[in-house]
Amino acid sequence: MDSFIIRGPSKLEGSVNISGAKNAMLPLMAAAILTGGKCVLENVPDLKDTETMSELLRGLGVDVEFNNSRLFLDASKIESEEAPYNLVRTMRASIYVLAPLIAKYGHARVSLPGGCAWGPRPIDLHLKGLMALGAKIEIDHGYIEASAKELHGAEIILSVPSVGATVNILMAAVLARGITIIENAAREPEIVNLAEALKQSGAKIDGEESSRIQIEGVREIEPFNFRVIPDRIEAGTFAAAAVITGGKIEIRECEPDHMHSIINKLSECGANIKLFKNGLTVEAPAKIRHAEVETGYYPAFPTDMQAQMMSVLCLADGASSIIEHVYPDRFTHVAELGRLGADINIDGSVAIVNGVERFEGAPVMATDIRASSALILAGLAAHGETKVLRIYHIDRGYERIEEKLVALGADITRISG
Ligand code: UD1
Repeated sequence: MDSFIIRGPSKLEGSVNISGAKNAMLPLMAAAILTGGKCVLENVPDLKDTETMSELLRGLGVDVEFNNSRLFLDASKIESEEAPYNLVRTMRASIYVLAPLIAKYGHARVSLPGGCAWGPRPIDLHLKGLMALGAKIEIDHGYIEASAKELHGAEIILSVPSVGATVNILMAAVLARGITIIENAAREPEIVNLAEALKQSGAKIDGEESSRIQIEGVREIEPFNFRVIPDRIEAGTFAAAAVITGGKIEIRECEPDHMHSIINKLSECGANIKLFKNGLTVEAPAKIRHAEVETGYYPAFPTDMQAQMMSVLCLADGASSIIEHVYPDRFTHVAELGRLGADINIDGSVAIVNGVERFEGAPVMATDIRASSALILAGLAAHGETKVLRIYHIDRGYERIEEKLVALGADITRISG
């Protein structure tokens, strides 16, 4: 398993280009099934998750080719409707093939994803939503067996605005007979991106930027040629990198409009942030100011930036608090940050982060994508050598992260094996 050796501290300076968003690309890849034709996605990041979703789709009979940030998907010959455990367990978003397979082919067999590093992460809302649309669902030996002769519209009220459930219900409703309304829908930009691609293909969707999405089913939708939005979490991670290293980074090819909560919070910490078209410049303050952070559903502060923000606040001028509302257990990075000298106390879903003068390099282990990036950020600011073990998580979600960091002046090396 690969690891990173980081020698710090470094002050990151220069500019970086942001890649396409993983969480926008994955539902779009699955949506190709709905079209039954040849789709093209632009601005696709070269990630482990791109490979995993490609492998999953190939297993269904989709022809997938990746070429220089373009992904060609030919879904005209689906031969199987099964998503196997060995792939689903490595990437929960595999569940996104469930709705398109039922809606287009009337049957799907998808492994249950199981838990993840920070908790159980249920999919009950996906299944309830699909059942409301008329799908028959059974759990058989760890697999979801779903079938439907024809899906019909329904009014579905989500108890929480789940991104995944909104994606699956939206994709099923597009080909269902009649009108579907999703109340308390997720409003993440990745959902809007998916809805825009489907609309370009002939789907009838309204209100995708609001928490009430209305879908009028159509008989079929055309293949799409669509551009994936920039990754707001990758952009936020580089913004945090500028702040934690005392540097200044120009973050290009991103969408600042998707990043208000992140920009506001880093500004509260004293960062000087200037926006320009498709980008922003983030300059660190002389001393990071403490802050209060609460994660939530979009447009609130994203849980996917919580770990990176925690690394930043570890070096602040006083005590900060972080309340994790989306995944109350998502604190696997805390003990590892402690190994670098952080002073953090956890009480349920609340973390109190007492600022320390500096991090000291040490070996640490990454447990998920964002925890990995938080540890890399801390390693960049730490004095001496930090070894981040198990970085395969980072390769799932960040495109060429070490190359981008080296170009900004970081001393980071990948050790294979
Ligand atoms: C997506 C993102 C992930 C991000 C998360 C929250 C992708 C591929 N992943 O994950 O990076 O951290 O949104 O922004 O886009 N819930 C239920 N029942 C369900 C589904 C969810 O109770 O059926 C709960 C979850 O436990 C959690 C909350 O809803 O508390 C939000 O989860 P959800 O938005 O579904 O996350 P994912 O779509 O899995």
